Amino acid sequence: MDIDYGPLAGLIGTWKGSRGLDVSPEPDDTEINPYYETITFEAAGDVDNAESQKLIVVRYHQVVQRKSNDEVFHDQVGHWMWDSKTGVVMQSLSIPRGVCLVAGGEATTEGDTVTLSVAAKLGDPDWGIVESPFMRDNASTLAYTHKIIISPDRLSYDQLTLLDIYGRRFDHTDKSVLNKA
Ligand code: HEM
Repeated sequence: MDIDYGPLAGLIGTWKGSRGLDVSPEPDDTEINPYYETITFEAAGDVDNAESQKLIVVRYHQVVQRKSNDEVFHDQVGHWMWDSKTGVVMQSLSIPRGVCLVAGGEATTEGDTVTLSVAAKLGDPDWGIVESPFMRDNASTLAYTHKIIISPDRLSYDQLTLLDIYGRRFDHTDKSVLNKA
């Protein structure tokens, strides 16, 4: 039987965008990086957990390049998951700094537009963040919120990663608009 990807269906495919804006920490300053990127989302089937939870799964890979020098400066892999029974939407992700998280939230649909909103917090027993000892001590991720809006040929997202770095709290933000490649 064909799998119903529900609110995740519109993600599937390859998306490209060149209007990304990253705000990142520097020791005594803020770095602003305009970027372009490709995100590939693939249908990854379903899984059963403890014989009672069924999750529908989309796998993704995000490759982000600085406009100033074409360098890949962010590489992220992860999964979006949807529990059709409860409506819960989850995003798990890993970034190659020694940081992973599982964020939870929901999907809302308006016409042909779907919005997925998820959040995670360091120490949250439900939706948490895991980091290496170095990152815990020097560049800790305290919280993460991510909102992605998907319509048939346009995808946009807005995310906030709250960091504890260089002795201060820092709002590390990323936003972007992509189109189906
Ligand atoms: C489009 C997405 C993202 C881009 C383009 C991006 C880019 C950057 C950049 C340029 C820095 C500064 C690095 C440096 O100065 O050496 C940084 C730092 C950091 N980012 Fe991101 N980031 C993104 C998403 C994320 C996400 C989703 C997380 C975690 C959930 C994250 C966690 C961190 C952490 C912990 C640091 C501090 C490391 C440091 O500055 O030394 N980032 N990011």
